[in-house]
Amino acid sequence: MRAVVYDRYGPADVLRIENVPKPSPTARQVLVKVAATSVNLSDWESLRGSPLYARIGGLRFPPHRILGSDIAGWVDAVGPAVTRFQPGDEVYGDNLMLMGGFAEYAIAHESVLARKPTALTFAQASAIPQAGVIARQGTDGAGAGQRVLINGAGGGSGSFAIQLAKRLGAQVTGVDNAGKLDFMRSVGADNVIDYRSEDFTRSGPYDLILDLVAHRSVFAYRRALAPGGRYRCVGGSVPALLRVLTIGSVAGWLTHRRLGVLAVKQGPTHFEPVADLCVSGDLGIHIDRTFTLDEVPEALAQVGEGRALGKVVVSVN
Ligand SMILES: NC(=O)c1ccc[n+]([C@@H]2O[C@H](COP(=O)([O-])OP(=O)(O)OC[C@H]3O[C@@H](n4cnc5c(N)ncnc54)[C@H](OP(=O)(O)O)[C@@H]3O)[C@@H](O)[C@H]2O)c1
Repeated sequence: MRAVVYDRYGPADVLRIENVPKPSPTARQVLVKVAATSVNLSDWESLRGSPLYARIGGLRFPPHRILGSDIAGWVDAVGPAVTRFQPGDEVYGDNLMLMGGFAEYAIAHESVLARKPTALTFAQASAIPQAGVIARQGTDGAGAGQRVLINGAGGGSGSFAIQLAKRLGAQVTGVDNAGKLDFMRSVGADNVIDYRSEDFTRSGPYDLILDLVAHRSVFAYRRALAPGGRYRCVGGSVPALLRVLTIGSVAGWLTHRRLGVLAVKQGPTHFEPVADLCVSGDLGIHIDRTFTLDEVPEALAQVGEGRALGKVVVSVN
């Protein structure tokens, strides 16, 4: 089968197309014929080996040769202990543990997969699992009239998060680069900030901050929070995440604010409610561009270099 592989951390040009053996599912695994795989910032981070948490499982060399975790496609074969799926089923899910979506076939544990809603295309379904879950858990607790700020709001998770916070009645501020300000407004942001010309930690205060790209000091985040407010980060530089985990929890507690790192819970029970909102039309899926398998390096760079408005998808079969 054709697959986009890499053997060392580096820029997009370390990726190449290769013919590799089609994998076989073991006991509770499913072989998926991939129709579409969406790109997440986590793919770019695993390609670069940076931030350092992207090297978990492979400090010097990548633990997986094939990237791509948000897959959608058809069940091609199942392992002997699989009970939930059979060949021909249309499925989707976040295959973060095994990856492998930038290939014609991918192996996934059955527990990470769900049946694809018929109302969604494979491309749309592939856009939901990782970004949708981050957005849903990241905006959990937002409420009517609350001031919510989303840092990095113009990308995949951010475009869902803006919409979810708006649905909950919040007043939403989106922060990203200047090229994404109109896009953030178009998905519902009430206010937008270009992070290159304005420091959001000197705006506000906010009741909830969801940070997709943390890199500032704990004291800057604390300054931007209203009394009783919450700051949650899901990604960013390792020093920033460590500072939030350590100094952040103490500084927050002392000043009646909460600062923490959100460890996102994965799996169908978490992403299917987001897909339901997409099917009912309450949540829009914004796919900026669709690439082919040969164009995976460009697709990853589009996300990693901050040019994607919403999601980027690779159409495989
Ligand atoms: N905690 C968990 O359990 C968990 C699970 C899965 C994934 N994650 C992490 O979640 C993160 C979010 O991923 P995603 O797919 O939503 O990312 P994305 O689609 O790439 O969106 C991130 C956005 O942030 C912008 N950005 C970069 N630097 C910024 C800055 N200094 N200030 C404001 N905006 C900035 C980017 O544009 P520019 O680059 O142009 O600025 C981009 O628009 C990733 O780091 C991923 O590893 C966490």
